[in-house]
Amino acid sequence: MDQAQSLREYMHRFNVQQEEQHSARVITITSGKGGVGKSNFTLNFALGLNAVGKKVVVLDLDLSTANINILMGITARNSLADVLHRQKSIWDVLEKGTAGIDYISGGLEIQDLMELDPNTLAYFWSQIQELQTYADFILLDTGAGISRELVDFILASDETILVTTPEPTAIADSYAVLKTVMQFTKQTPIVRLVVNRAQSYREAVDTSRAIKNASNSFLKFKLVTLGFLMEDVHVRQSVRAQIPFFMSYPNCEASKNIKQIVYSFLPESDESLNTSSKGIRSFLERIFSKGKSL
Ligand SMILES: Nc1ncnc2c1ncn2[C@@H]1O[C@H](COP(=O)(O)OP(=O)(O)O)[C@@H](O)[C@H]1O
Ligand SMILES: [Mg+2]
Repeated sequence: MDQAQSLREYMHRFNVQQEEQHSARVITITSGKGGVGKSNFTLNFALGLNAVGKKVVVLDLDLSTANINILMGITARNSLADVLHRQKSIWDVLEKGTAGIDYISGGLEIQDLMELDPNTLAYFWSQIQELQTYADFILLDTGAGISRELVDFILASDETILVTTPEPTAIADSYAVLKTVMQFTKQTPIVRLVVNRAQSYREAVDTSRAIKNASNSFLKFKLVTLGFLMEDVHVRQSVRAQIPFFMSYPNCEASKNIKQIVYSFLPESDESLNTSSKGIRSFLERIFSKGKSL
């Protein structure tokens, strides 16, 4: 085989690989106010996506409050911090969660990453990138409240889901998140709203309308409603039993709401799964080049 031919073969193989390469979509889940049901939503939404055949990795980046592993009744033996210190690979810290979803405990702050030496950072980065082709979705459960780091996450991810409840304080804090994000960027990030713990459909619609109207009028930012979850006693019961409600009560109101949310979420992202999805690689690039890209 002459050199030109082997080069052609190589290019062909390379192109096939490129075509086959798929990018995990990175979704940040956040809220202005704490305790609005973010972690429960993240976990059960992950299970909902999993139920329709999507591979989901939940990355727990809320370091201050109760962790998603507790909601699943599993103990996280390792965390991303172990990868950071080069003791483990990404596959060592990936815990098998409920019903085939994978869970990674964060155990580190974004500042920890910023302080790494280039070699360690390169290793850490290469490990995270392994998820690019492994998962369809990487759900980042973040802490509540707006910080510069959170804004970076929102701007770096493919999409953000903002969770609120109908309480006036939660509504005000949700708006504050959007306002801060828009102060930091000229981009228009994709942010979709989930209203949790609504007493009625009417209340859910009114809540989303209030935040959307404020966002439209004062920030010129078009917030999209992803869906609603009703107040449902099964949620608390499932938290106590440490079994996600989507598993233990698949037909309860909240589980039906999750199915509806998965249904509204997927058509759009499915089309773009392999095309416009920026993926974990680009997510990391944007996080680390913050300031330049914003
Ligand atoms: N749809 C709901 N119906 C009833 N209770 C809920 C619902 N969503 C959340 N909760 C309650 O709120 C608590 C806090 O939820 P959690 O997901 O931990 O919030 P966050 O992650 O935003 O701090 C849960 O333990 C549960 O008791
Ligand atoms: Mg939480």
